[in-house]
Amino acid sequence: MLCFVISRSKGDVRVDDVEGDVEERRNQVPSYVIMRSTYLGTEGEGYEYVLKLAETCLVSTRTSYLPDEYRDFNPPPTPLTILLLTMPFAQSRTYRHTVLASPPLTFPSTIYPIYSTPTMAELSTCLPLTRDSVIEAHNIIKPHVHLTPVMTNKTLTQLASTPRDPASLVGTPWEGRTPANPTLRLWFKCENLQRIGAFKVRGAFHAIERLKREPGWIENGGKSKGVVTHSSGNHAQALALAARESAIPAHIVMPSVSLPNKIAATRGYGANVIFSGSTSSEREAVAAQVIADTGARLVPPYDHPDIILGQGTMGLELQDQVRELKTDGKGLDAIITPCGGGGMLSGVALSCEGTGIRVFGAEPSFDGADDGRRGFETGKRIESVKSLTIADGLRTPVGEYPWSVIYERNLVSGMYAVTEDEIRSATRLVLERFKLVVEPSAAVPLAVALFNEDFRAMVEKEGGPDGWDLGVVFSGGNVSVDGLAKLFAA
Ligand SMILES: Cc1ncc(COP(=O)(O)O)c(C=O)c1O
Repeated sequence: MLCFVISRSKGDVRVDDVEGDVEERRNQVPSYVIMRSTYLGTEGEGYEYVLKLAETCLVSTRTSYLPDEYRDFNPPPTPLTILLLTMPFAQSRTYRHTVLASPPLTFPSTIYPIYSTPTMAELSTCLPLTRDSVIEAHNIIKPHVHLTPVMTNKTLTQLASTPRDPASLVGTPWEGRTPANPTLRLWFKCENLQRIGAFKVRGAFHAIERLKREPGWIENGGKSKGVVTHSSGNHAQALALAARESAIPAHIVMPSVSLPNKIAATRGYGANVIFSGSTSSEREAVAAQVIADTGARLVPPYDHPDIILGQGTMGLELQDQVRELKTDGKGLDAIITPCGGGGMLSGVALSCEGTGIRVFGAEPSFDGADDGRRGFETGKRIESVKSLTIADGLRTPVGEYPWSVIYERNLVSGMYAVTEDEIRSATRLVLERFKLVVEPSAAVPLAVALFNEDFRAMVEKEGGPDGWDLGVVFSGGNVSVDGLAKLFAA
């Protein structure tokens, strides 16, 4: 039995035969090949070799991505199977490419341990997930992003510091409880006024700048091969903009049912928009095809250290800005951010490490979108979410890297969820009282501060009579007037 593992270490491509010397058996057809998806996007010996193998075996590595249902499929003896890992698309999902026309070899009963790595910047070149790394990321992206304002609003601060009417708790989990009476001074970080209208540019610029610094990436033609992602949201526009400013092509895979204004906005930043089906496997398959065709690098929306560190820069600014704005010289007591894939929450948590500032995550509860909160309860990351919450940026499950910061390193103190109506009310309050446009995802932390009695009771207890200075992140403002009209008509 012959098995090859294609891998890479610090930029060097390695083709390993698990049993012997690969060179000696170079012209033989292996029983199976384990390949990390990185190689779909890179050049060099490993990639060429995989292609040659594929050719020999009359299979294209670029075709027949099997959907999720086949994850646990136990392959019957077949001529040759290539195991292809695509971690950044699917968090360690294994796709099996079964080759039908090849020499009659038998599928082995054991599957060798396989490592998977994001196709983005090599992990070995990434900075560690620390506050210092967030500071370094900030120095890198500062010239590319706006220093967004931090604002206060008396009406909202007063509302947050007033006990709710007991009648409004009827029908909620807190019915019959004495409403909490916290003292909160709210400081809003207005990332809705950020470039592209959301914080996502921070991670995207950081990822692009890191890629440009990765040894060999530019030399191997990385800048003309470009970058790719699959997203219909703010990350798509953020990556398109960040890539354009470095004259790098951006390929953005979007479901064909995406809203026309989002497609137009992404194209407006110069991206090549490619359509796919709506399921995650359909989108991943198209992105993989783009990588195979162009050699572009994948830039995932949240599950990568470069993205996390980039998003964390917002937390550093918020801390400094509040310290300057406050007259008593004291900084924030806590920060609350929305949590979708957790890139921003984990980045902000890193930016607060060692400062004494507590960090909280805010999620929608609708249809199980509060996967972070539920994961906190059980101590186990929830890997998939199917929710159509109006907070459309928060429909994703928390990623592996964010989870390692949020939960495993204990850098987030708690996760809280709110209902669709509460998100709608908070969005309306921001529009009417603050005169600011925020998208529903961005109003979720404020909704927690105003309506989640568990959060409010915790602040009352922990903050005491002095209360807390709470940083509240308005993460984005990308919603059309029609979108808002629909939101409030519902
Ligand atoms: C406006 C807005 N807020 C919050 C988020 C969640 O960010 P993350 O996935 O890093 O948790 C997103 C993600 O798309 C978003 O667009």
